[in-house]
Amino acid sequence: MGSKPMRGLINAAWAAVRLKEDTMLVLGIESSCDETALALADDDGLRASVISSQADMHALFGGVVPELASREHARLIGPLFDELMRRSCLGPSPRDAVDCIAVTRGPGLMGSLLVGVAFAKALAAAWSKPLVGVNHLQAHLLAASLENTLSWPALGVLISGGHTHLYRMDSPTDMTVLGKTIDDAAGEACDKFAKMAGLPYPGGALLDELGRRGMADSRMFPRPYTKNDNLDFSFSGLKTAGAQWLASHPEARFPAGDEPAKDRLYLANQMLCDAAASYLDARADTLAIKARRAMETFTPRCIVVAGGVAANSVVRITFSDLAKEKGLPLFIPSLRLCGDNAAMIAHAGWHMAKAGRMHDLSLSAIPRGRAIPEDWIPYEA
Ligand code: KG4
Ligand code: ZN
Repeated sequence: MGSKPMRGLINAAWAAVRLKEDTMLVLGIESSCDETALALADDDGLRASVISSQADMHALFGGVVPELASREHARLIGPLFDELMRRSCLGPSPRDAVDCIAVTRGPGLMGSLLVGVAFAKALAAAWSKPLVGVNHLQAHLLAASLENTLSWPALGVLISGGHTHLYRMDSPTDMTVLGKTIDDAAGEACDKFAKMAGLPYPGGALLDELGRRGMADSRMFPRPYTKNDNLDFSFSGLKTAGAQWLASHPEARFPAGDEPAKDRLYLANQMLCDAAASYLDARADTLAIKARRAMETFTPRCIVVAGGVAANSVVRITFSDLAKEKGLPLFIPSLRLCGDNAAMIAHAGWHMAKAGRMHDLSLSAIPRGRAIPEDWIPYEA
């Protein structure tokens, strides 16, 4: 479908934004996986945000069920929008206050993305506002700039449930992928180990808790795919080593029970706690080895670590040591901004809008595994 028919509307809406000299208020929408979230951000940062997680529902199935995820997004996005409008006190006509609609266009689950993208398009059309399609991964990294002033170029380490990317960040809107995982993501490797050990989905945070009660042994698990000279990752070897260890130590499995797993952590066998500490150590070390190597390709002025896995305590300590070693500032978003949220989407959308990057109503959603196109529509005066 061509974008031509929408040009008139988009240019009129965009002109209004460009003519406004005071702050720009962006509504951000996130629905790429199992969080439905909306937020408002302006030149001063986050104004308001709402979020609903489906994690408990998917935990019943041991992982995200895409069909259920999109149905939940469709059920929740309207009420969450109302709630955001209520909380943000934009007055009787929010349409007059909001300048631009930003939405996660990918990567993510196709059905989930389509709910957010369709909602954003409807709002952009109804309110005659410009639309900005945001790259979810880059938005994770930019979450750090909601709380700190980053200096450029920066080394970006994006670690989430589904992705592991190293970036050279030259500005909020110019990021180059230096390396990425060729199989499992950093978060996935831990969620799968946790699942095999008897912990519910998503096990990353629970594994972190168990690891804090254990002692890491660096000989227990490999630093996979590091004996090469590239900047890519492969965590499948770590997952296999974890599966083999669990198969040969069935007594270490986390015991089943009726109470939520987080209330039964004290029941965990010490062997499992030590294995969790060693597994998390191997993962963080692997990330740091490649990050150190990436810094040989350019000279960053700071390090940014972001994404759900950046909430992990071992990752935070490992990268703090690396930053000290390199004499660089380290920026990791606060815990509430590490996992999926719409504050980062509104903020990334704000940067894109300021840079003149916008889309029309033909904006496409891009599933995991496909590159996000740079298909911005230039403003035509
Ligand atoms: O960024 P995110 O919320 O969703 C994706 O875009 O994938 O990341 C989710 C990932 C999951 O793998 C989850 O287990 C992990 O973040 N995670 C953690 C912690 N909290 C969330 N991993 C380790 N330690 C944590 N405290
Ligand atoms: Zn994410």
